[in-house]
Amino acid sequence: MLDAVQDVRAPVYLLRDTDGPALFRTPQADCDTLPPLYPEWLGDPAFLATHGCRFPYVVGEMARGLATVEMVVAAQQAGLIGFFGAAGLAPAEIEDAIRRIQAALGPEADGWGSNLIHSVHERGYEDAVVDVYLRASVRRVSASAFMALSPAIVRYAATGLARNADGGVRRRNFVFAKISRPEVAAHFLSPPPATLLDALVSSGALTPEEARLAAEVPVAADITVEADSGGHTDNRPLAALFPAIAAQRDRLVAQHRYKESIRLGAAGSLGTPGAVASAFGLGAAYVLTGSINQAAIESGLSDAGRAMLCEAGIADVAMAPAADMFELGVKVQVLRRGTFFATRAQRLYDLYVAHDSLESIPAAERARLEKELFRASLADIWKTTRDHFAHAEPGEVTRAEADPKHRMALVFRWYLFHASRWAAEGIADRRADYQIWCGPAMGAFNAWAADSFLEPASHRTVAQIARNLLEGAAVITRAQQLRTFGIPVPAAGFAFRPRPLG
Ligand SMILES: Cc1cc2nc3c(=O)[nH]c(=O)nc-3n(C[C@H](O)[C@H](O)[C@H](O)COP(=O)(O)O)c2cc1C
Repeated sequence: MLDAVQDVRAPVYLLRDTDGPALFRTPQADCDTLPPLYPEWLGDPAFLATHGCRFPYVVGEMARGLATVEMVVAAQQAGLIGFFGAAGLAPAEIEDAIRRIQAALGPEADGWGSNLIHSVHERGYEDAVVDVYLRASVRRVSASAFMALSPAIVRYAATGLARNADGGVRRRNFVFAKISRPEVAAHFLSPPPATLLDALVSSGALTPEEARLAAEVPVAADITVEADSGGHTDNRPLAALFPAIAAQRDRLVAQHRYKESIRLGAAGSLGTPGAVASAFGLGAAYVLTGSINQAAIESGLSDAGRAMLCEAGIADVAMAPAADMFELGVKVQVLRRGTFFATRAQRLYDLYVAHDSLESIPAAERARLEKELFRASLADIWKTTRDHFAHAEPGEVTRAEADPKHRMALVFRWYLFHASRWAAEGIADRRADYQIWCGPAMGAFNAWAADSFLEPASHRTVAQIARNLLEGAAVITRAQQLRTFGIPVPAAGFAFRPRPLG
């Protein structure tokens, strides 16, 4: 029985008689056949055909190059899709990474892309990154942190749209929109507003024909529905979020009478075969993972940080203030075990809310911050911060000098920003301050991988992680199929042990 469940590539034969259904591995007279099941077939075949990959599996972008060039290349070569972690990098750094990916994979290779993060702070950043993507012919962009559409993302999506012989619209560039709320999904499930398209035509960024075609199709052909995840997250469970977005998708596809469908992928808390099988069971066209890849050898995180991730249990995560939207009280999900970052960052946020300036914080508290968190005087930290912004964004310095509360925010953000750097670089005496984005998927993965070949950090490659999750998901799917036929599948039929897969 267990062999028949695990060996998903072989058919099994079912015979029903008066004693109930029985399972055979060889054909029987008057039997029903359950055909082979391949991990490749768990998702939407149109996803594989459109994006030129073997598996319906995306290795998600991780900011500041934590999803490295090597990770993208390894993912693509394993038949997955890899997205480069472009967020937080300068356009020139992104372009350099893109060129390296193209040099490794060949200029025409499918199956990879890069992140476009919506930027509220830096004007012109999004446009500069889209310029890089269009110049370098990057065919897939994962759009994230958008609340509404920006001209830059519409320009990317609409550039190169052409009419098909059958009257449909052919895309040159594909947007994967990462969303965790229906109101944001609505923007990507709809065509861009006419005002945005008109403005892009007026400025010469789009041709009138591209704008006409853009009005017939949704901005994104692939929407990644992101549940409780590492980093920025709304903490929603996939089982609640995915069906709600699917219903919204169905309504909008009918309303706009699109000729093509819109694929929904699933992300967030996927770290075990069972989670992946359940995502496909919800109807996901593809799955996307994040946290678990940060522990892989191709990740840009330091060895020390990866070792900490490999120790994480399912509850070893916490929400902590985010560096990029600190003042707004936005939080990110981080690793809690082995680091005080979440508590320390929260202390900074509480002080920020309670006080109007650094000077109004009680002296004893200020001394503690200087000793424990900053390891320098707050005056020195402000000096370094001011020097940085004088270069990068002079407007911030003017604002901070006029507004002591803003100055406090910039000083506190110094700690949050550096806490990620210390983790990425593995600065030993800053281990207690490491900021490592991480969701509960990591602990779930560790529990599954315990005592298997995937337990040691050195064996964790994005390819082996993905192949094992997909193989295991196929096994669990088959176990469930057999149950629905009345076969009494034992609990062990739903278990899959990690093993080297080629
Ligand atoms: C360290 C880390 C950095 C991330 N950086 C980004 C990012 O820059 N842009 C983005 O869209 N998503 C980012 N994510 C989210 C992932 O791409 C992915 O959507 C998410 O991790 C999936 O949920 P999971 O962590 O439960 O697997 C990041 C996630 C992690 C763990």
